[in-house]
Amino acid sequence: MGLILALFFALVAVSHGDQISGVTTNRTVVKELTVGNGGNYGYWTDPEFCPRGSFASGYNMKIEDNQFAGDDTALNAIKLICTDKSGHPTGNGITSGQGSFGDWGKTETCNQPYHSANFLTAFTLQVEKPQGGGDDTSANFVKFYCRDLAGERNETVLYRPPGTGHWGTYGEWSESCANGTAICGLTTKIESVQNSGDDTSLNDVVFYCCEESSQIPGIVG
Ligand SMILES: *[C@@H]1O[C@H](CO)[C@@H](O)[C@H](O)[C@H]1NC(C)=O
Ligand SMILES: *[C@@H]1O[C@H](CO)[C@@H](O)[C@H](O)[C@H]1NC(C)=O
Ligand SMILES: *[C@@H]1O[C@H](CO)[C@@H](O)[C@H](O)[C@H]1NC(C)=O
Repeated sequence: MGLILALFFALVAVSHGDQISGVTTNRTVVKELTVGNGGNYGYWTDPEFCPRGSFASGYNMKIEDNQFAGDDTALNAIKLICTDKSGHPTGNGITSGQGSFGDWGKTETCNQPYHSANFLTAFTLQVEKPQGGGDDTSANFVKFYCRDLAGERNETVLYRPPGTGHWGTYGEWSESCANGTAICGLTTKIESVQNSGDDTSLNDVVFYCCEESSQIPGIVG
């Protein structure tokens, strides 16, 4: 019985998103959050999801410092911190594909009110437009909205100070996860190492909104 329900659950998740077709997940994805200003280089990498019953409550970024005369790549990876509804961490974070350069910085987390948790619900991406013959970096920084799962409180902005990377501009905010859902996973578009060419690393990202899996009868979320 457990196995049958698990298989059913995977089919439900896949049928809701082109980006994750072929990937088995125990999460019910109800929406994909996208932005229009992502970079054009590289390929989409395997999605990753928070463990069942948990959502993203914070994030970290792997950023390469200014290389001055060297080849800059700026944002290389995004890690989502997963916690359950009581605010307890579940696992060590999820990243999907990562670029090869840079260092992880300080983790930023949504403010957690007493006995409940706030989760990521929307994002905006700072991206440098193609530079022609110049040094491209593509994505530079990401900011999020945080909100309680039910949607009883307003969204608040979450970012790592100062909120911007070296190059590019922010585009429009993505749509938000609906009430009762929050960000539970991601897939990143990563340009692999170009050797003598111009590296950009992370170009674009899609975040997934999930329902609580415990809403499916018989599955313990
Ligand atoms: C899904 O959940 C089942 C049952 O808990 C587990 O055995 C399986 O490894 C999980 N699959 C994934 C992809 O997390
Ligand atoms: C989300 O829930 C809150 C609180 O019940 C409600 O005020 C708000 O209108 C809901 N938002 C949407 C988009 O349904
Ligand atoms: C949420 O934002 C709306 C629009 O800005 C405002 O009218 C409302 O008072 C806010 N609600 C809370 C609970 O802060």
